[in-house]
Amino acid sequence: MPAAGKTPIRTKPLPLEFPGAHYVGQEEIDAAVRVLSAKSPFRYFGIDLQNEVATLEREFAAFIGVKHALAVGSGMGALSVALSAMRVGPGQQVVIPAYMWVSVAAAVVNQGAIPVLADIDDTFCLDPASVERRITPHATVILMTHMSGAPGNVEAVREIADRRGLLLLEDCAQCCGGRIGGRSVGTFGHMGVFSFQMNKNMTAGEGGCVVANDDALYRRAVACHDLGYPKDENGQSDFSDAGEFLWGKGARMDELRAAILRVQLRRLPAITAAMRASKYRIRAALARFPRVRLRTAPDPAGDTGCFLITTYPSPEMARRVNERMRADGIVTWPQGCSNVVMTDWGMHLYYNIPSLVNKTSVAPGFPWGLAENQGLVPDYGKGACPAADSLFERSILLPIPSCLTSEDEDDIIRAFEEALAWEAVE
Ligand SMILES: Cc1ncc(COP(=O)(O)O)c(C=O)c1O
Repeated sequence: MPAAGKTPIRTKPLPLEFPGAHYVGQEEIDAAVRVLSAKSPFRYFGIDLQNEVATLEREFAAFIGVKHALAVGSGMGALSVALSAMRVGPGQQVVIPAYMWVSVAAAVVNQGAIPVLADIDDTFCLDPASVERRITPHATVILMTHMSGAPGNVEAVREIADRRGLLLLEDCAQCCGGRIGGRSVGTFGHMGVFSFQMNKNMTAGEGGCVVANDDALYRRAVACHDLGYPKDENGQSDFSDAGEFLWGKGARMDELRAAILRVQLRRLPAITAAMRASKYRIRAALARFPRVRLRTAPDPAGDTGCFLITTYPSPEMARRVNERMRADGIVTWPQGCSNVVMTDWGMHLYYNIPSLVNKTSVAPGFPWGLAENQGLVPDYGKGACPAADSLFERSILLPIPSCLTSEDEDDIIRAFEEALAWEAVE
C-alpha cells in the first residue's frame, strides 16, 4: 500500500460518469418547453402535435444506418418488445452473455423462455466459440450485449446465428454510437436495442429504441410496443390481418423525451469523441506496463469510450492496484459507479443476479417449471462461465466521464503509474 501519510493525488472526486447528462444545455430545455407549450406530450395525437417521436425515429434510423427505428420507454422495454417480435416464448432458449445487465436475463425470463449463459472473451462481450458450444436444438435467439461502451466480435456471432438458423438481437444499451469499421452496432443483428436511461451515452433520463431492417420484425415490434396490433401510417391500430395480432407491452415513448433525445442525438458524436479521447490517452500511457492487459477493442475508432477496463495477472494484483488508486482519490464516490474491481460490479455479472442464480419464478413454476422448458434449464451459479469468472476477478473497471479535463486525465495516469510502481517493488 502507499506509504502511510502519503498525500493523495486528488482530494476532489472525479466527475460523475453520466455521459449524455453532462451535455444537457439550453437546447434540451427549449425542446422540452416546445412540447409542453404545444400541450401535446403524447406521440399519437395532441392539441398541437409536434411529431417529436416520429422525427426522432427517422433521425435515429439515419444515424444508425438502419431502415426502421421504434422509440420506446426504456431499454428493458426495448428488449421485451424485440423478443416478442421474434416470437420468443416457452420451450425456447436464448443465449445471453455472462457479462450483461440484469435486464437482459429478465427480458428472456419474462417471455417464459430460458436464458443460457455463454462465456465472454477479452472483448468482455460474447465469445463466439462459447456461443457455438452453448447452442442447443432449443435455442432460437442469441442476445449479444456490447458491454461497457465498446462493441464485441459481433460479425463472428452473426455468422454463427446464420449458420445455425438463429436470430441475433444486439443489446446496444451501453454502446450507443459504437461502430465497427464505420458500421453501427445494432445493424449486425436481425434487431438491435438501445437505452437512453441516465447512465447512457445519450439520455432523457429514461427511454429506449428498437431498430431493424426487416419489415415484418419491425411491424410486430410496433404492434407489441403499444396495444398488440400493427399500426397504419397514421398510428391507428390495423385489424386487417388476424394472423398479426399480438399482445401489447405498454412501452411507448412520449414526445417530451423524444424532443430532448433529438438534441442529445446531435450531441452524441461529440460526447463519444470526448470519452474516447480521454480513454485512449490513458490506454496509451498504460502501454509501457506489460503486466497490465487492456481490453481488446475490435475497432478502437468505434469504441464509445465510456469505460476503461484493465486486467492483471492475478486477482490480488487487481485489488491492490484498485485500492491504491482509490486511496489516491481516483473515485466518483459517493454517487457514481466509481472505480471498482469487477467482482464488485453488481448485477452486470451473471452470478451476482440473485433471481437468476436462484431461478426465481414470476408466478409458480413460471418459467422454470413449465412443461415446455423441462430439461432446458442450466445452472447459473458461479463457475458456469470460467473465462468470465477469471476476467471479473482480475479486472478493474473505471468509468470515463464525458467531461474529464486533461488535469483529471493526468491524475488518473499518475495514479496508475504510482500504483503499478509499487507492484514493481513488492
Ligand atoms: C446492457 C443493458 N441492457 C439493458 C439495459 C436496460 O435499459 P433501461 O435501464 O433503459 O431499461 C441496460 C441499462 O440500464 C443495460 O446496461
